[in-house]
Parts: sequence; C-alpha cells; structure tokens
Amino acid sequence: MFNKNVRMFSKNDYVCLYNIITMNTIYLKQSTLTNKEKTKELISKMPQDFLKGTNHYEQIQESIKPFLLPKLKTLFMIINETCNLFCKYCRYIQKLPKNHVGTVMDKTIGKGIIEKFLSGDNTGIERKSIVIFGTEILQHPDLVESLAKCVREFDAKNNVNTELTMFTNGVLINNKVIKIIKENSIVTIISIDGPKEIHDQARIYRSGKGSYEIVKKNCDLLRENGIRFGISTAVGEHNIDALPDIIEHFVKEFNPINIGLNPMEINKDAPKDIFYTKFMRQSLKAFEIARNYGVSLPQVMRRIRPFVERRQRIKECPTCGGSLRVYPNGRIGTCSHFVANDEYCIPYKTYVEDGISKNKIIRQWSLRTQFNFPKCSECEAISLCGGGCVYNAFLQNNDIMSPDHRVCSHSKYGLEWCIWKLFDDIVGKKILEISDIIVPDIEMRRALYGKIDEVNNVLPLQEYNSFGEVSLNIG
Ligand SMILES: C[S@@+](CC[C@H](N)C(=O)[O-])C[C@H]1O[C@@H](n2cnc3c(N)ncnc32)[C@H](O)[C@@H]1O
Ligand code: SF4
Ligand code: SF4
Repeated sequence: MFNKNVRMFSKNDYVCLYNIITMNTIYLKQSTLTNKEKTKELISKMPQDFLKGTNHYEQIQESIKPFLLPKLKTLFMIINETCNLFCKYCRYIQKLPKNHVGTVMDKTIGKGIIEKFLSGDNTGIERKSIVIFGTEILQHPDLVESLAKCVREFDAKNNVNTELTMFTNGVLINNKVIKIIKENSIVTIISIDGPKEIHDQARIYRSGKGSYEIVKKNCDLLRENGIRFGISTAVGEHNIDALPDIIEHFVKEFNPINIGLNPMEINKDAPKDIFYTKFMRQSLKAFEIARNYGVSLPQVMRRIRPFVERRQRIKECPTCGGSLRVYPNGRIGTCSHFVANDEYCIPYKTYVEDGISKNKIIRQWSLRTQFNFPKCSECEAISLCGGGCVYNAFLQNNDIMSPDHRVCSHSKYGLEWCIWKLFDDIVGKKILEISDIIVPDIEMRRALYGKIDEVNNVLPLQEYNSFGEVSLNIG
C-alpha cells in the first residue's frame, strides 16, 4: 500500500509513517491503520510521497550530484602544537613527548595561506570563514593579531566580510587580547566542561591544578567588555551524566551565544558504540533544557534541523569538500587526523602555486556521501545521518568511502527522538481525537526548536555547522 521508502514507527496507541528520503511525516492512531473501512479514506488524505510509485532513492541519487563538488568555505588554521594546560583527554597534548618544543606557524606562511584561501574559487560562496585554531593559540597573541589583521585587510580591499573565529581555553585572555578581539571582530569560543568540580577534573595544568577559576574570571572580563562568546564542551565520562545541569550552569554563569558538545574520541576506556549512544541520549536531554533558553547546541541541531526543515543532510563533515585544515608548517589538507600524519594533504608551496579546489584529494573527499554507500540505502536515518566521521570510517574499514558505524545508533536514536518529540510538542494526541491523520507542516515541525530562533539566528560557524544540508525538493 505504501511507497517503499516509507517506514513505520509505533509508540503506545500511535503510529508514525515516515518517508526516509522526503522526511515527510504522518501521525495516526494504530486503530485507524487497522480499520479496513477507513483505509481508503486514509489513502485519499495522504501526501503523494507516501503512496506507491516514485522511487525517491533513485531520484535523490541524481539530485545530489551538483552538491558533490568542492565548495571550500572554511579554513581551519592550526597555528601551534604546545599548550599551557594539560587536559587529561587532550587529543593533541597527551600524544606529545614531555619536552616537545612544537612548531609555531610562521607569520609569512600564515598570511600566504589566508590570501590564497580568500582569493581562491568563490563560486556559489556567499561568505568565507577562517578559524584560528591549534593547541592554545593565545600563547602567541602577536601571531593571532597579525593573522586577524591580514584577514581584515583582505576584507577591506575586496569589500567582503570574512567570518573570523578563534578557539581558546580562556586562560590567557587579558586586556590586550580583548583589544585584538574587538578590533578584528573575532568570534571567540571558549572551552569549558562544566562547573568547577567537573571542569577541574579534566582541564588542568601540568601541576594538576584546575583552570576553572581563571577561565571564569576571564569570561567575566569579556562580558564586562560587551563581548559574548560561544562555549565548546568536550563530553566524556567526567561530565556526560550531568549534561542537562551543565547547560543550566552555562546559561546562568556565562550567557553563551551557543554551546558545542564534542564527543570524546574513541579510547580504550570508552567503548565506542555504548558511549556514542549515551552521548546522543544525554545531548538530547541537554537540548531540551537549552531550547527553553533559546540557546542552540550545534551538534544536536545537525540532526534536528534536517528533520524539521526536511533538508537532507547528504554529508557528515565539512572535510568532505567544504573546508581545509592547515598545519603550522603549512601542510594543507582535509581532516586534521590525516594532516597530522601527513596523509591526504599537500605542501604549502604546492597549495600557494597551484590551488587546491581541483586537487584530486579534495575531489575524492567531496564525493563522500551516505547516499553512495550500498549499506545505507535502506536505512531509516539516511536523510539526517551523513554517514559519520571519515577518520573513524577509515579506522573501522580501512576505507574512507564507507560508513562510520559508530554513528548508526546515534542517528537512529536521533530520528526516533525527533519523531516522538514532535508528536508531543504539537500535542498530537489531542489533534488525533478530532482528526484521522496529522501531516505536520513546516511551522508545526519548527516546534522542535523551542525558543531557538533557528531561522534568523546568526551563530558562530553557522554555515560550517549546517554543512551538507541541502534542499532537494524530492517527492
Ligand atoms: C584541541 S582544543 C584547542 C583550543 C584550545 N586549546 C581549547 O582547549 O579550547 C579544541 C577543542 O577540542 C576539544 N578536545 C580536546 N581533546 C579532545 C578529545 N580527545 N575529544 C574530543 N574533544 C577534544 C577541547 O575540549 C576543545 O574544546
Ligand atoms: S587547553 Fe586545549 S589544547 Fe590545551 S590541553 Fe586542553 S584541550 Fe588540549
Ligand atoms: S551510517 Fe548507519 S545510520 Fe547512517 S545512513 Fe548509514 S546505516 Fe544509516
């Protein structure tokens, strides 16, 4: 009776029919579906994409082709390799030998890369974005300032307004840094893992002393100077159970622009699937708090927004044709895990002389979509998934063109959450007392955002965070 892309989800007395490609959604009572007399009437009320006929999966294979070409919008500049902190989980610092000196990006190389990136292919790109990143970048405030100035000089000459963002642990913020931030309009993201007793379990100095108090003091200094900032939180065993309370704490103590939740990378203490599923469950609980305050959680929105807007997420990660990473020595490539090992990257000189958007590595990565993976073709979560992390897929399958199965439970849990939370938010039970079916329109679906003004929000790295979401008008 139904289109082959329709899946059925049940909860108590209710059923949701969901088209895995168009993401259109119908709610009805179990009893309506089993009532033969009502079936005919039901079919006449159903949108076309629920009925037998078009193969939406074949349709989407064609429609995504133009989106599989590179569009390099974001440059992550990893400018250094050492840190003033020694966070217990740090993917960069914990791997280094004890007295590692580390390379710091040369100013001239940095400026050369910025100019090349900003003047490179702009086709279809409204605004480019540069992120000053690394270990702790504020150990080198003069370098940060000259890179920022280089961006703003390019902007002035070319009448553009590049988005400029930096990530910091917040320990070294002072009046000089505030001046740099203000003069160059740098959006600042600060890493905080929770209130003092949680943050100080992981984000410590080499001596073992926690960093919360100094970070809080510096955040207050930013706020006194009228600077709002985002928060980046690494989610691991030290804070995952308290995530919803942590959101409350952040909103009250820091009034952040948004809060990024980054799952801890796979390690021997955190079995990958169990941790990842728990991460999704807890992130969604945290989201329910955050949306009441109108605060967006970008990583959670990456699953929710495609469902709400019915905009398919055809790629997971901006490394797949949307962004570049450059290391301190100028080596440039896609994903930092690979660039760190000198894989899938090219030297500075090659980049500056030849560019990269036509490079075969970039072209190959741009083709990575779950819609090209046979194993994903029947999956209910295919349109909001993205196929997971490229690096993890490589670790699991020795092939970047394969799904990262760690993401499966995460995406599927996210989809079911969206389906039944939406039903609750629109008070579906009440509507089904007077109507046989509900086909939520876009305004109803946006109930999932709560007080988050997702349509008008201008948030840090908003484009980067919605990478891979496209409107294909299928169905
Ligand atoms: C590597 S740091 C660099 C910038 C700066 N030093 C800071 O801490 O904000 C960038 C972000 O990566 C996160 N991070 C570090 N190690 C991680 C890991 N193993 N898994 C997940 N996130 C991690 C940090 O919490 C931080 O928010
Ligand atoms: S402050 Fe950032 S770079 Fe430094 S150890 Fe902590 S997470 Fe790593
Ligand atoms: S990676 Fe897993 S969840 Fe994602 S589309 Fe493929 S099978 Fe589905």
